[in-house]
Amino acid sequence: MTAASVGTSFITADDGGDPATAVVTVIAYRAADRAAGESAFTTYHCDGCHAATLTPPGPDITSSGIGKHSDDQIVAAVMQGRNPEGASIEVGHTFPLTTAEAAGIAAFLRSQPARGVPQADE
Ligand code: HEC
Repeated sequence: MTAASVGTSFITADDGGDPATAVVTVIAYRAADRAAGESAFTTYHCDGCHAATLTPPGPDITSSGIGKHSDDQIVAAVMQGRNPEGASIEVGHTFPLTTAEAAGIAAFLRSQPARGVPQADE
């Protein structure tokens, strides 16, 4: 599938049984915002808890873990500790990102190689 512009599309597969629909959202980010997001990731040592190399591996915040969340949900998780699934994140997860960092954190996270297969909502 090639997207010609930003927006949301739906792909439905139907073999005559139960059809399955996937939502595909295309977002454009500014390079400067992504860079600010990367800077915040370094400043607040996000990898200290989220790296795949930890034992056990930290929560997946690459696209396979957060792909289902909107940018606003990601910013709320990072800055207010609000878990997109509803509960709060119980580790003092209230990082004071600047406006530019907040605009770019989702861009940076989404630009990382997916760690695993997409995970369903919990
Ligand atoms: C002290 C450890 C720690 C640090 C540091 C940390 N996180 Fe987290 N983060 C967590 C935990 C624990 C969760 C909850 C995971 C869950 O509910 O599955 C979480 C959840 C998240 C989520 C929501 C994931 C989801 O799909 O529900 C995002 C996004 C996130 N963190 C991004 C970040 C970013 C960006 C930084 C750096 C600015 C950061 N975290 C720093 C521990 C940490």
